[in-house]
Amino acid sequence: MTALVGPSGSGKSTIAKLIAGFWDVKDGTVSMGGVDEKKIPLEQLYDQVAFVSQDNYLFDESVRENIRMGRLSASDKEVEAAAKAAGCDAFIRSLEKGYETNVGGGGAHLSGGERQRIAIARAMLKDAPIVILDEATAYIDPENEAVIQKAIAKLVRGKTVIVIAHRLSTIKDADKIVVVKDGRIEAAGKHEELRKTCPLYESMWQAHIGAKDGDVA
Ligand SMILES: Nc1ncnc2c1ncn2[C@@H]1O[C@H](COP(=O)(O)OP(=O)(O)O)[C@@H](O)[C@H]1O
Ligand SMILES: [Mg+2]
Repeated sequence: MTALVGPSGSGKSTIAKLIAGFWDVKDGTVSMGGVDEKKIPLEQLYDQVAFVSQDNYLFDESVRENIRMGRLSASDKEVEAAAKAAGCDAFIRSLEKGYETNVGGGGAHLSGGERQRIAIARAMLKDAPIVILDEATAYIDPENEAVIQKAIAKLVRGKTVIVIAHRLSTIKDADKIVVVKDGRIEAAGKHEELRKTCPLYESMWQAHIGAKDGDVA
C-alpha cells in the first residue's frame, strides 16, 4: 500500500491517472512490475488496474450494467454479490426499478456516496491485482463514510494499492507514504519517519489531528 498525500493541486490525481495509463507520460517512464507501461498493450494494462476516483463516472444505463462494466462476462448474480459486498445492494433495491433503474449520465440521480459505492462494486467485480483509490475530499455524512470505508477495506484486501486519502489517519500505516508538492515528490517514507524528516507532512498531520490551541507554541 502506497499513499499519495499533499496539498490540493499538488498533482496526486495526475500521478494516479498516469499510473492507470489514462495518459501517456511526455518525460520519464511509468513502469509496472518493472516493465515500461508504453510497452504494455493497453488492454492488458487496463486489466491490471481498477481505478476508483473522486469523479466516478456512471454511464447512461441501468445500475446493473454500470456495475457489470467492471467485468462484462459477469452474471447478474455476480453483479449483485459485488453490490452487496460494496454496501449498495440495499439502496439499489430501494430505487424505483431496483437494479434496472437508469442512473443517468454522470449518475445525476444518486448522491456522491452512492456513486462511489457503485464504483467500488464495479472495481470489486473487476478483481484486478492493482487498485487505485482517489478518494472524495468529503463524504456526505459519517454513516456513508463508515459504509464506504468498510467496502474499501474489502476491495483492497490482498491487492497492490495506491491510495489518495484526505484523512491521514486512514493511511498512516501504509507501507510507503509519498508526499507530493507543486508537482514534485517532496519526500517518501513511513509515517513516523516522515513526521520527523518532512515538515510539510508533520504540519499536515498536526492539521489532521487538530492541534489544540493550548498545544501550539
Ligand atoms: N486535465 C488537466 N489539464 C491541465 N491541467 C490540469 C489538468 N488536471 C489537473 N491539472 C492541474 O494540474 C495540477 C495538479 O492537479 P491534480 O493532480 O488534480 O492535483 P491533486 O489531485 O493533488 O489535487 C493542478 O494545478 C491542476 O489545476
Ligand atoms: Mg485530486
